[in-house]
Amino acid sequence: MSMIIFFLFCFIPISNCDITCRTTSWWVLQPFPKSLLQQFLDESKVTLTFNSSNPLARFMQDDEHPVYFEFTTPTNCEYTALPPTLANITEQTFVEFKLEIPYIILNNKNIMFKPLLYQNSLQNVAATQVVYGLPANFAIMNADFDKNTYSISYEKGSVQVSFEPLIPNLVPFGSPGTANFSSFVDANVSPWLAFPFSLSHNTQCASHKYNFTAPALIRPVKMSLNVIGDILEAIPSGIYTNEGNQPLGAWQIDVSYRVTQTYDCD
Ligand SMILES: *[C@@H]1O[C@H](CO)[C@@H](O)[C@H](O)[C@H]1NC(C)=O
Ligand SMILES: *[C@@H]1O[C@H](CO)[C@@H](O)[C@H](O)[C@H]1NC(C)=O
Ligand SMILES: *[C@@H]1O[C@H](CO)[C@@H](O)[C@H](O)[C@H]1NC(C)=O
Ligand SMILES: *[C@@H]1O[C@H](CO)[C@@H](O)[C@H](O)[C@H]1NC(C)=O
Repeated sequence: MSMIIFFLFCFIPISNCDITCRTTSWWVLQPFPKSLLQQFLDESKVTLTFNSSNPLARFMQDDEHPVYFEFTTPTNCEYTALPPTLANITEQTFVEFKLEIPYIILNNKNIMFKPLLYQNSLQNVAATQVVYGLPANFAIMNADFDKNTYSISYEKGSVQVSFEPLIPNLVPFGSPGTANFSSFVDANVSPWLAFPFSLSHNTQCASHKYNFTAPALIRPVKMSLNVIGDILEAIPSGIYTNEGNQPLGAWQIDVSYRVTQTYDCD
């Protein structure tokens, strides 16, 4: 029902189908060899290249590029164009994983590329595929913010992540000792590529607008990511770790945001 309303709104060009949500997430910036990530770029419908003059380049090897992992729980997501009561009864809360590659060049500008998503809601998988044209898959997922664990189980394997908070409590964005988080703000500021069904011949983009003053709460975490099987496609199975409070780091975050509808990238 809510999906039908959503689709109707998004395909009326004059309407605004922005979505607002709050999320508790873990965000991780992890370097990987460009030779592995190239496989994701090659699968794209448009020509994409790595931007090697990105601000994280000095923290990596020359042949590496960052991947932005979002282990997230979008909460109370509402379609802003709907009247409040309808927005309320169509609210969505789900678990989502996004594998994103920031600092990708399209037409001489940075964009974020989203080659792989998992969600535990069939309705959101359908909406993500149709409205944004992103490769979302339905999986069994669990996010436990008490035990600091997150898991994805899919036909091609599984992901098990555990986090270890480096400070006892979340603190407001901008607190002393959190300056290294700024790499996440910069990496996430560019629009992301979308491939919706569209009559326009131009490449489509959309944006996530995070509201870091709403307030947003953060804390650095250590991460241990165990990838079993081909679930992350070009990312091989194995154990990946991250020390947390560094530019290529790992953080828990609680933040509000708005997802825009798609628009011409240029
Ligand atoms: C609707 O609004 C009420 C009151 O603001 C809130 O408690 C509830 O979580 C909202 N969502 C749904 C799906 O009812
Ligand atoms: C590469 O990234 C830098 C830093 O974000 C940006 O200033 C520059 O415009 C990007 N280059 C291209 C060609 O997009
Ligand atoms: C961010 O949230 C605050 C507090 O809810 C609100 O006043 C402000 O308008 C929001 N900013 C944006 C850009 O949405
Ligand atoms: C921020 O990251 C740098 C580089 O890894 C590190 O030397 C520094 O200790 C980090 N800052 C904090 C507050 O941990």
